[in-house]
Amino acid sequence: MKQKVIRQSKINAIIDNTQNEKEEKKQAYILIDKDMMNLIPVDKRILNLGSKIDFKLFATDEKTHMSLFLQADTVIEKDEKYKLQYVEKVFALESEKDKYDNFLEHHLQNILKDDLLSLDEKTDVIYAASTDLTKNLYNNPDSLKNANLSENIVKPMLATIIHNENTISSYLKIIEYDYYTHTHSLNVSVYSLCLGNELNLDEDTLTSLGRAALLHDIGKSKIDPKIVNKQGSLTEEEFEMMKNHPTYGYEIAKEYNIKDQNIIDGIYKHHEKLDGNGYPNKLSSNEIGLFPRIISICDVFDALTTRRSYKPAMKSFEALSLMKTTMSSHLDFSLLSTFIKMLHHK
Ligand SMILES: [Fe+2]
Ligand SMILES: [Fe+2]
Repeated sequence: MKQKVIRQSKINAIIDNTQNEKEEKKQAYILIDKDMMNLIPVDKRILNLGSKIDFKLFATDEKTHMSLFLQADTVIEKDEKYKLQYVEKVFALESEKDKYDNFLEHHLQNILKDDLLSLDEKTDVIYAASTDLTKNLYNNPDSLKNANLSENIVKPMLATIIHNENTISSYLKIIEYDYYTHTHSLNVSVYSLCLGNELNLDEDTLTSLGRAALLHDIGKSKIDPKIVNKQGSLTEEEFEMMKNHPTYGYEIAKEYNIKDQNIIDGIYKHHEKLDGNGYPNKLSSNEIGLFPRIISICDVFDALTTRRSYKPAMKSFEALSLMKTTMSSHLDFSLLSTFIKMLHHK
């Protein structure tokens, strides 16, 4: 810990010096020993023209020296964009990760206007940035104090889906097929948005649906990580504890003032089954609305098609066949048929 503090003060001193020297001698970069810094990679495609960064950017030169590339509070103009083409990778200080995440949250939407990027590239940037933001959200549900966070994550994904045909095929190429709670939640959000779009739901309803799906397992953040991340099947007792996560999710939604009843239902009822054998309340089909019906299909599909240490990932065709033949009594059959059609036409 002490070592880290010393490192950081050294970096600050170097950066301050860099700033002074830059003023005296333009274009002069001080080379910084890579080992001295804790850096995180920054996706340079997210640095849109006209956006202002409030964190420092570093880059490696051809001798693999790390140097200050852009100062904080720089507006990305044509000049900066041009220079960015000639560096392979850019980084931010780990100590400024909050600032970078904040930048991602508020600028992700702009990527959609970048005519130089293909749909595949846009979905790639958006999925990677959203993974980062969703991970923070699941590690720290307190970030839901920022009432717009889940909406800011969902909106760019939704825009790619509404404004393009067959965006699902772009997402299927890049989504994470190893199971982690946060990537699972993001994948369920992507699938739910695509299915909701197939059903011609309006944009506001789709935004709520995407948020509900993104947050559907947020209650797992209140369960012992040893159980949530267990490498193997759960004991009966552990499963009983795990079954509390929809209720915990409901409580978290209330605690953070989520008022949209559809979002609350999506979180609270995603493990209810149409045959009345689900949990936590064994609701009957007429008590289970559209959001939990959509989310439960996408939830099961992602769980089957992702890999865990104790089970391989199923191919989508196998997963859909299994769902159709063995789960038709508890999943909404008509929605499942639309979901299957959507994935077959990809
Ligand atoms: Fe769940
Ligand atoms: Fe889930």
